[in-house]
Amino acid sequence: MVDKLLSEACGEAAGYGQVFFCNSGAEANEAGIKLARKFGGRGKHVVVSALGSFHGRTLAALAATGQPEKHEPFAPMPEGFRHVVFNDIASLESALDETVTAVLLETIQGEGGVVPASVEYLQAARKMCTDRGILLMIDEVQTGFARTGEWFGFEHANIKPDVVMLAKAMGNGMPIGALWASQQVASVFKPGDHGSTYSGTALATAAARATMQLMIDMNAPEVVQQKSDELTAKLRTIGGVVDVRGRGLLLAAELKREFDAKKVASQLLELGLVVNGVTSHALRLAPPFNLSSEEIDEAVAIMKQVL
Ligand SMILES: Cc1ncc(COP(=O)(O)O)c(C=O)c1O
Repeated sequence: MVDKLLSEACGEAAGYGQVFFCNSGAEANEAGIKLARKFGGRGKHVVVSALGSFHGRTLAALAATGQPEKHEPFAPMPEGFRHVVFNDIASLESALDETVTAVLLETIQGEGGVVPASVEYLQAARKMCTDRGILLMIDEVQTGFARTGEWFGFEHANIKPDVVMLAKAMGNGMPIGALWASQQVASVFKPGDHGSTYSGTALATAAARATMQLMIDMNAPEVVQQKSDELTAKLRTIGGVVDVRGRGLLLAAELKREFDAKKVASQLLELGLVVNGVTSHALRLAPPFNLSSEEIDEAVAIMKQVL
């Protein structure tokens, strides 16, 4: 089912791609980085990712994460990672030499402050990768499965990645992640190259299948888009909110400078609203898809009270 959703999103016939199941988003990225290294071969092993990105807490996923302060306690980082300025086409282009095997990007930097990649940036990244024989790997761990109002975040830019990483919503609470790759790329992994005791375990994959079926039946992308429009419009009526950014139900409310987002988030929590201070002045909102209009009104009333 994951392959069907991704193959359709990538304009391929179902059964075209291949999926490796794992237990988390970080594991999906580890597997993707290994796949990219084997695909590139010796000397063409560098993975380029963006500053401000988040790809997980295992060592290679951490090295790909573009937040030097997170590397610092665990230095030295593994070799073969390079970071560029997010949403800056020239910065990406200048990093792509003959040692690069893959570009790894989020379509919205979630942990980095809910910062969407521009359509032009993602399309330029796709073209640069295609022209140079470099893989475009998209980390959809946070944005995947309708969170942004499309099945996958990359669909907003109408691009087709070579490799996609998934987790979080996939099992709706059951730990599962996945690495999807087009057939040609996936075929570089030979038996024994990668695996895990619990990869593709029956319980987790059954949970993922049930979750995906439910999301398909409810037309999750459409539901998310409707609720996003309502939530965004209502957030904009709050005096202390100067901007709302993001897509679907992955939003950030940018607050007036006098507010400290972390303090505001803990005051909101006391009143029963769970959000997080994702930057010093922005709150991230990532509500569940079964959010009701009444709950939106309640959340907005709590935010008005605190701000
Ligand atoms: C974009 C992205 N990639 C990877 C990860 C890591 O996923 P996990 O916590 O399942 O290892 C996260 C987690 O927040 C994420 O947001």
